[in-house]
Amino acid sequence: MILKIIESISEMQSEADSFRMAGKTISFVPTMGFLHEGHLELMKIAKSLSDKVIISIFVNPTQFGPNEDYDQYPRDKEGDLKKAAQAKVDIVFMPTTNEMYPDRYQTKVQVAEVTQHLCGKSRVGHFDGVCTVVAKLFNSTKPHIAIFGKKDYQQLAVIRQMVIDLNLDIRIIGAETVREADGLAMSSRNKYLNIGERQSALCLKKGLDLARQIFRNGERDGSVFLHALEELVKAHSFTEINYITICDPLTLEKIDILGDKNLLALAVKVGETRLIDNCLLKV
Ligand code: PAF
Repeated sequence: MILKIIESISEMQSEADSFRMAGKTISFVPTMGFLHEGHLELMKIAKSLSDKVIISIFVNPTQFGPNEDYDQYPRDKEGDLKKAAQAKVDIVFMPTTNEMYPDRYQTKVQVAEVTQHLCGKSRVGHFDGVCTVVAKLFNSTKPHIAIFGKKDYQQLAVIRQMVIDLNLDIRIIGAETVREADGLAMSSRNKYLNIGERQSALCLKKGLDLARQIFRNGERDGSVFLHALEELVKAHSFTEINYITICDPLTLEKIDILGDKNLLALAVKVGETRLIDNCLLKV
C-alpha cells in the first residue's frame, strides 16, 4: 500500500468524498507530528474501526500562546512519514499554515464552559485554537470516526462538546494513555526533558497512583488528596505545580467531596516543560 501525502484541503476533501462514495468508512487521527507510540496506538484503533485511515500532521499555531513553544515544538517530517507508512495509514494530510489560515482568515470555534477549567485557566485561548483547527480538519477529512488520546482529557471533553453542539456526524473515541515502561505518559514534549527532569517527571504518574491508593482506602475529602499530591510533587526537583484538581469528569467543575466517579487531573512544569496527566477515581 502506498502512503498518500496531501497538502491541499480541496484535494483532501475530494479523496474523502471518493472513499465515502465507494462506501468506505473513514477514521481520522489528528496529530501535531513527532509521532510516538501513543499516536501509533490511535492509528491502530483507527484501523480496527474503519476501512480507511487518515491522519493529519499540522503544528497548529492558533493553539499556542505567545509565550509557548510553537517555534520549538519538535518536528520530524521524514520520521513521521516512515511511521505512518509502517502503521499502514491511507493518507497523511499535511497542510501548510497558509493553507489552513490564509490571509483574511477570521473565524474561531469556541466551546464556552468546559474550556474554562484545568488547562483552560492558564492557557487562555488554547482550546479556541484546538476547536477551530479540529473543526477545519474534520471538514477537510470528512471522517465517520475520530480518535483522541485520553491523556489530553480536557481536549477530548471539549471536542465531544463541540461535536454535540455543532451536530457534527462524527463518532469521537477516547483512547487510553500510552506510557513509557516507567509510567511517564507519552508526549512529544517529553523530548524537552533532560536526564534529571525526566526522572522528576515521574511525579505525575506517582501522583495518580497515590491518589488511587488514597481513594481505595476510602478517603473522600478532596483536600486530603490535594495536600498529599502537592507534597509528593514538591519533593521532586525542577517541579512547579500548575494545577492539581479533582473534578467532575463530564463538566470538569471542581469537586470538594468525591463521589463515585471523579477525575483527577494535574499539570506540572518540570524545568521548562509543562506536562499533564490524569486518571479517573471511581468505585
Ligand atoms: O492533541 C493534539 O496533538 C492537537 O491538539 C490536535 C488535536 C492535533 C489539534 O491541533
